[in-house]
Amino acid sequence: MILKDKKILIGITGSIAAYKSIILVRLLVKAGATVKVILTPAAKDFVTPLTLSTLTKNPVLSNLFDEESWANHVMLGRWADLMLIAPLSCNTIAKMAHGICDNLLMATYLSATCPVILAPAMDEDMWHHPSTVGNLEKLKQYGNTVIPVQHGELASGLYGEGRMAEPEAIVEYLQDFFLVEKVLNGRKALVTAGPTYEPIDPVRFIGNHSSGKMGYALAEELHRRGAEVTLIMGPSTIQDTGSGIRFIKVRTAEEMYEASLENFGDVDIAILSAAVADYTPVVKADEKIKKKDERFTLELMKTKDILKSLGDIKQKQVLVGFALETHNERAYALEKLEKKNADMIVLNSLNDEGAGFGKDTNRIHIFDKSGKEYVFGIKSKKEVAKDIVDTLISTYYA
Ligand code: CTP
Repeated sequence: MILKDKKILIGITGSIAAYKSIILVRLLVKAGATVKVILTPAAKDFVTPLTLSTLTKNPVLSNLFDEESWANHVMLGRWADLMLIAPLSCNTIAKMAHGICDNLLMATYLSATCPVILAPAMDEDMWHHPSTVGNLEKLKQYGNTVIPVQHGELASGLYGEGRMAEPEAIVEYLQDFFLVEKVLNGRKALVTAGPTYEPIDPVRFIGNHSSGKMGYALAEELHRRGAEVTLIMGPSTIQDTGSGIRFIKVRTAEEMYEASLENFGDVDIAILSAAVADYTPVVKADEKIKKKDERFTLELMKTKDILKSLGDIKQKQVLVGFALETHNERAYALEKLEKKNADMIVLNSLNDEGAGFGKDTNRIHIFDKSGKEYVFGIKSKKEVAKDIVDTLISTYYA
């Protein structure tokens, strides 16, 4: 129902994924939205104006002017509640990044005052080319929102990243967009996630099983609520899919500490979910350590406690820490809240089925400074991230 009577302007560019936009338009119309379509000249090789005008019951626009009239691109951008470009080709991304106004879609984009959401589609190599990465970064700086590309079969026949999100997923994204109150608009957030790897020698390290999934879900949720998010991620398979979150990749506890401190100054919220190594080798051997003796002793020293360090210097920031415990959970969680000067502690107990490293679900309790305890059931990490952000918003930003 949320899309009912919403005015959505869809731009379609020249990509094989354009055929999916026909289904997308159909779904949006079915959901009650009023849809107008602009095709780039290249898009007409993939879909016909007739199909789209029949589905939308609106004329499909493509040219800046024809023999009789001039298309009012300024008014189109003002008419829309939202402009969605799907599929967005590599070529149009480049033009948008540089303000090249050579067709109606570009003229409308450059003059649009409504929010702009982008669903890119291209082959993996084009997607990863530094020019595309840089151009997309520019578009995010302009305030455009990017729906992450999918991994799967591509037009080339290869498998990889670059598929446009499925029409159903795009509709869900738009529903979410209209639904979510952007309470955290204008706020900055910092999230640490994943494990750290402490080097022993050039080929070995001390690490842990953290996947980074919980932290990534938190970063996504904060971003969804309008915050500008920096995610400091230890070694993890999670990649930046161009979702609008600023990724900083680190490896060691020391690197995570440096990056956190550097970014903490101007954030409003910091959630430290990383499984930081508590100890690191005193000496990192320059060469591979050869096996000799029956026993081998490695001397370790404490790493810097990032949460505590931020707790010591915090001013306006809301600081959230995690506690992963196997026993005396409540007491240890409360002790961490106090000792590290955090505002909230999220407790995971390894005794809870469905919680812990590498799993897709989690079960948490949240303790806040005022002594309140919030209890939640087993949920997906995405849902858990929502619970944490909801609790944070209702406590500090309601
Ligand atoms: N943490 C951190 N820097 C460290 C160690 C931990 O920022 N060097 C943060 C974690 O990201 C988490 C919280 O501190 O938010 C709790 O981590 P944990 O390792 O459980 O706490 P410790 O104080 O190390 O307590 P213990 O290992 O004794 O349980």
